[in-house]
Amino acid sequence: MKKSPEEHAARFDEKASEYDESKSDEYRACANLVIEHAAPDAEDVVLDLGTGTGAIALALAPDAERVVGRDISEGMMDEARAKAQQEGLENAAFDRGTFREPEYDGPVDVVTSNFAMHHLSDEEKREAIEVIAGLEPRKFVLGDVMFFGEPDPEAPFYSPDVDDPATVGTLADAFTSAGFSLTAVERVHDQVGVLVAERSPVAEAEAPDPDSGE
Ligand SMILES: C[S@@+](CC[C@H](N)C(=O)[O-])C[C@H]1O[C@@H](n2cnc3c(N)ncnc32)[C@H](O)[C@@H]1O
Repeated sequence: MKKSPEEHAARFDEKASEYDESKSDEYRACANLVIEHAAPDAEDVVLDLGTGTGAIALALAPDAERVVGRDISEGMMDEARAKAQQEGLENAAFDRGTFREPEYDGPVDVVTSNFAMHHLSDEEKREAIEVIAGLEPRKFVLGDVMFFGEPDPEAPFYSPDVDDPATVGTLADAFTSAGFSLTAVERVHDQVGVLVAERSPVAEAEAPDPDSGE
């Protein structure tokens, strides 16, 4: 982690009002893929981590039972709340929570996160993925800055002083260690991608039955 959560929160509070106007084509492509892969059913609860101004949460709310957004920046979430109200989306709620402490213990079917997890160190990402697996979602769709190869030092898609992207291999390893199977890998750019992780049916099938007495 190159900055503390408090430092990231202050940074995003400051840019919250202009955030939605500052998007790259790669960001938009990534967000669209996250929305497409999340594809919640009408009875699903979606948890969107690092929700920011609600780009993913608000796009999914019309299709889901409920959307829960978590972030550390109240400024970003105020923008999300205002948009939810303008759009009449009463099933989207935004509150403080981090990747490793989402401060949500209700049911979750689909977890999403877009362009946010790269603020964590690789070890923290691993811990966050374990915490998310513990919430037992059916699916976790992660769009983010991530390295498909050696990043071009002349053209970083991230800010090396504040961001800490992982390689796709590191993320894939963290997902499988936490009991997910990677079911899709979408490369948007050599430093931006979307990973779809689903709870491994094999791991579930092999898990001992607590009632079997074995
Ligand atoms: C680049 S914005 C992305 C927002 C949104 N997901 C989107 O697609 O537009 C990154 C967000 O991650 C949040 N963030 C950074 N570190 C976080 C952490 N440890 N836990 C939760 N949110 C975090 C920031 O406050 C910010 O709102």
